[in-house]
Amino acid sequence: MNVLLINGSPHKNGCTYTALSEVADQLIKHDIETNIFHIGNKPIQGCIACLKCSQTGYCVFQNDPVNECIDLAKKADGIVIGSPVYYAGPNGSLTAFLDRMFYHKNSAYAYKPAASIVSCRRGGASAAFDRLNKYFTISSMPIVSSQYWNAVHGNTPDEVKQDLEGMQIMRTLGKNMAWLLKCIEAGKNTVPYPEKEEPRRTNFIR
Ligand SMILES: Cc1cc2nc3c(=O)[nH]c(=O)nc-3n(C[C@H](O)[C@H](O)[C@H](O)COP(=O)(O)O)c2cc1C
Repeated sequence: MNVLLINGSPHKNGCTYTALSEVADQLIKHDIETNIFHIGNKPIQGCIACLKCSQTGYCVFQNDPVNECIDLAKKADGIVIGSPVYYAGPNGSLTAFLDRMFYHKNSAYAYKPAASIVSCRRGGASAAFDRLNKYFTISSMPIVSSQYWNAVHGNTPDEVKQDLEGMQIMRTLGKNMAWLLKCIEAGKNTVPYPEKEEPRRTNFIR
């Protein structure tokens, strides 16, 4: 089994990475492979709502790593998304990335356990955390939780390591995700996936 951990920070080895690594270490300890994927610090195109992805399963824009990440997510058994907190939300490059990664592909990720984690200096963590979880709850992905909302505090990786509660939250998350992945694996030959209805789209009240 393998888990894809997406680092949405422009800093490859910064605070978000430090938190994701703590989650990954626990997954590895429980015999689950991990891949920390950095979205980089180059411009990420926003979604232009062309809807071409509904035909191809991929985004029309090829000059950033969104399509590469779609392939990795399809192959992964679980997904963790990590973001720095910018103005009490996930950072803009990451939301541009995820809008394109999840739009019309959400059934490809269905039933894969997912979690988000956020890294902040001081405030806005739970609002950013809530926003990230929206990608999972529209995609039939079971959300893995921890002992508190998944946030670390600090402005440098060293400060994040001093956030002992935050680091424990990350370890608990890793253990909980490993447990759920193993439960799903154990049940996959006996418990069928839920029957899917043809999607209905009623625009607001009509
Ligand atoms: C544009 C910008 C906005 C930020 N907004 C917030 C914020 O709203 N709340 C907060 O606590 N920290 C904020 N920060 C600090 C970052 O969240 C913090 O440094 C983060 O943990 C860095 O993670 P990284 O090393 O993975 O990039 C902001 C930083 C930047 C650059």
